[in-house]
Amino acid sequence: MNSERTKLKIYFCGSIRGGRGDVLIYKDLIAHLGQFGTVLTEHVGNPELTNEGHLPPSEIHDRDLAWLREADAVIAEVTTPSLGVGYELGRAVTLGKPILCLFRQGEDRSLSGMISGSSFVEVFDYERVEDATRIIDDFLGRVSAFIALETIPRISIAPLATPVERCERLESAISGMPELYIKRDDYIGPLVWGNKLRKLEYSLAEARNQGVTTLITCGGIQSNHARITAQSAIRFGFNVILVLNGPRPLKPSGNLLIDQKVGVRIEYVGSSEERTPRMEQIQAELTGKGEKSMIIPLGASDATGSLGFVRAAKELVLQERELGFHFDYLFHSTSSGGTQTGLEIGKRLFGLRASIIGVSADSSLEEIQASINRSSEPIFQRIGSSIRINPDEIIVETGFVGPGYGVPSAESLEAERIFAETEGILLDQTYTAKAAAGLIAYARRGFFKPSDRVLFWHTGGTIALFQ
Ligand SMILES: Cc1ncc(COP(=O)(O)O)c(C=O)c1O
Repeated sequence: MNSERTKLKIYFCGSIRGGRGDVLIYKDLIAHLGQFGTVLTEHVGNPELTNEGHLPPSEIHDRDLAWLREADAVIAEVTTPSLGVGYELGRAVTLGKPILCLFRQGEDRSLSGMISGSSFVEVFDYERVEDATRIIDDFLGRVSAFIALETIPRISIAPLATPVERCERLESAISGMPELYIKRDDYIGPLVWGNKLRKLEYSLAEARNQGVTTLITCGGIQSNHARITAQSAIRFGFNVILVLNGPRPLKPSGNLLIDQKVGVRIEYVGSSEERTPRMEQIQAELTGKGEKSMIIPLGASDATGSLGFVRAAKELVLQERELGFHFDYLFHSTSSGGTQTGLEIGKRLFGLRASIIGVSADSSLEEIQASINRSSEPIFQRIGSSIRINPDEIIVETGFVGPGYGVPSAESLEAERIFAETEGILLDQTYTAKAAAGLIAYARRGFFKPSDRVLFWHTGGTIALFQ
């Protein structure tokens, strides 16, 4: 076991008044759990403990609940039925704790459907303690990775979590659309900071920790990422230089208008290929003057920025618990790949069950796979996780790019209109409307089952409508 591993606080549940027949198994499991950190409820594995009669019930309840709140993970041996364990598990679900239940099958017993049927509890059958310890190792490995993630520096720039809302009118408007929900990252920050803000929380924290004074980033003339980097970085005292490509308009509008309003230095280049060399040139010039700068790559889609969407996946898992169900599909716009990288990592760490469908604004499947591969390896290493993403599991829908990057298609214009007219929700034509066009087309072609629940992740970008 990795000695560097984060020390965990583990809440072990086992029957006390429901019967002590399994106490020696509890003892062995607790001994194993001790390698991962502190078992707050170690007494449950003590063969001497017959009941906790010497303490008033209210003290037992309040002490255990306090432990439950502070626990990083809950592990229950649920073979001997116990009211107390059932209660602890229910509370643990609402507290959003990762929960593992271990059960030994037997002719005369079966596990309550309230445990085996809960999608927020991982339930495993086992026969021997050695089998249970392997399951525990995998489970706690994922929990440790999450705790390690929480220790990575992050600047909180705007309030999160964003709401998840049902779109009933849209459901009725589109044939074949099952229950549809929307994740409102368009609510983030002033003038729709969207998905970029989540990434910049990590990028700016890294820049601050490295003593960087100037941030250099790039994008198209109407880049959401460039504008949001400018707006948010200024708030934290950074100088910002944007390298933008595309025809320079006579009258700036949309994102470019804001770039100019906030007074950052803008360097215009002729093509997207010229952006990185120009950023590197600027950085060399600044270094020559003794200034410490950092290049944030396109879309902040590197191993730092993508952490924002690993965290976003955790946010969604907690919201699923509140809603009481898991999503079956998650549609979002994908381009430089950081959003999808974070979601794919988060899915594997936190038990998101949805199939993630990135609807491409421009990139190919291979480009997104490469981006996910590039960023996810260092992230997994950083959080001490042995999980890896198989590129074949990545889904990128490339059929909705239309005439090309930044150019609306007939389908994206229709999707924009449907979202606006049925729900009053605005989509930009470059990213979110193309993702919505994909979602609508999937519904119409009968892709979903009526029982499916689908989440459309609104990633922002609406400002681009005002150009
Ligand atoms: C509004 C909007 N949605 C989605 C994306 C795609 O996100 P990613 O670049 O992380 O793939 C972008 C990227 O610029 C965007 O601006």
